Amino acid sequence: MRKNQFIGFAFVSVCLWALVTYYLFLDRPLNHKPDQQKQIQIQEHLSLLELKLNEQFLDGEKLLQQLRNIVKEQQLSVRVNEAGAEGRGVGEEQQLEKQQGEKEDEQVNRMRSLAEEVLPDGGPVIAVLVFACNRITVNKCIDQLLKYRPARERFPIIVSQDCGHRPTADVIELYGDEITRIEQPDQSDIPVPPKEKKFKGYFKIARHYGWALNYTFFKFNFDTVIIVEDDLDIAPDFFEYFLGTYPILKRDPTLWCVSAWNDNGKAGLVDENAPDLLYRTDFFPGLGWMLTKSVWAELAPKWPSSYWDDWVRQPEQRRNRACIRPEISRTRTFGKIGVSNGHFYEKHLKYIKLNEKFVPFTQKNLTYLLKDNYDVQFVKQVYESLVVTYQELKSDSIVSEGSVRIPYHTNDIYKRTAKLLGLMDDFRSGVPRTGYRGVVSFLYKGRRVYLAPNANWKGYDPGWS
Ligand SMILES: *[C@@H]1O[C@H](CO)[C@@H](O)[C@H](O)[C@H]1NC(C)=O
Ligand SMILES: *[C@@H]1O[C@H](CO)[C@@H](O)[C@H](O)[C@H]1NC(C)=O
Repeated sequence: MRKNQFIGFAFVSVCLWALVTYYLFLDRPLNHKPDQQKQIQIQEHLSLLELKLNEQFLDGEKLLQQLRNIVKEQQLSVRVNEAGAEGRGVGEEQQLEKQQGEKEDEQVNRMRSLAEEVLPDGGPVIAVLVFACNRITVNKCIDQLLKYRPARERFPIIVSQDCGHRPTADVIELYGDEITRIEQPDQSDIPVPPKEKKFKGYFKIARHYGWALNYTFFKFNFDTVIIVEDDLDIAPDFFEYFLGTYPILKRDPTLWCVSAWNDNGKAGLVDENAPDLLYRTDFFPGLGWMLTKSVWAELAPKWPSSYWDDWVRQPEQRRNRACIRPEISRTRTFGKIGVSNGHFYEKHLKYIKLNEKFVPFTQKNLTYLLKDNYDVQFVKQVYESLVVTYQELKSDSIVSEGSVRIPYHTNDIYKRTAKLLGLMDDFRSGVPRTGYRGVVSFLYKGRRVYLAPNANWKGYDPGWS
């Protein structure tokens, strides 16, 4: 036997001996019979195993339950959305409704405290209400509002969504608490007269406006709201413009709105050196406009089922009140697809110039816009201007400097002249676009021009269209 082999053999023997000794004397108490002892051990092992399995099973159950809950939540939210879209068909999710109700209450309380906050400078809190439906490009509008907003506590942004369009809701929700999202709950079908079937969109818009303005003024309790649609670009001084004109709107009961829009605001028709110039207008321009609660309280109970913009232009609603509008628009629409007329956009809206120079309106004295000041000054300015014809204006044959006036006496003459000058030529309730006391002010070849009725003008003729 070789030496190494012997050592190996001896080592294995010693190990075996140790193992046997351990088994016989230590692991096994001598006062138990071997079989009995073994059985007890097996029993113990089995119970332990059972216990562990049970634990794992319970863990698994827990996990499974969590998974089930997640799936259920997902299904519920899908169903709630569907119910929203189809007009509340599901009655089984009372708990979810309760949760939503609590969330809503919390939102209302939060917004109410924002609305009632007294800001350090004593200035107003003005909500910005964005109307959205199914255009995911709403982010373009929201991004600009957030970019130019001078202070969030001054201008809380609310995005009101109609149409139950999930992708748009997802885009809006990405902004988290930078903005507040509300959703028009009534998604029921609107019965529309057969002749107006293709204008159904306008009925939905009017319903949405009625609901969202009620919510913002009466539930959130804001006193003043700037209304914006989801397809608007805004100018850098958009907020400054509304903040600066706010005191005038509050002070003058013959004003009912401030609008950021000039209907004749194309390049060439506006004075690009006068971004600070503002007007009064009898024509409601819309497209980014500010409204107070007192006016809304008056309009809300009789709010129409469609064509709300032409409705507010009617004498019964307007009641001889005017809006403030700028020389150079503070909004521009980046594409009307959907309900509005695409043709109108291509032909007209897309040429409206958006202001680029920031005007510090809050530092300016805007009291010239109050009716008593404005009317005297405006009438004087218009009717002291040299009377010219369109041909004279076009041929550059006017020698004197300064503003000029082109008179009109009839609906047809107005329309024909407006067309020649590149102005909007339509009327609403007898009021021409941008008109004040019948006068339309614009720039032509660098010269201020007033297209104006006679000085003894007696008021609008709603028959003009
Ligand atoms: C809005 O509120 C007014 C006044 O409380 C109410 O008459 C009107 O029906 C409401 N409109 C909508 C759409 O809820
Ligand atoms: C603002 O302008 C008006 C004239 O339109 C003037 O009477 C008034 O004194 C001015 N106010 C201030 C504070 O300068």
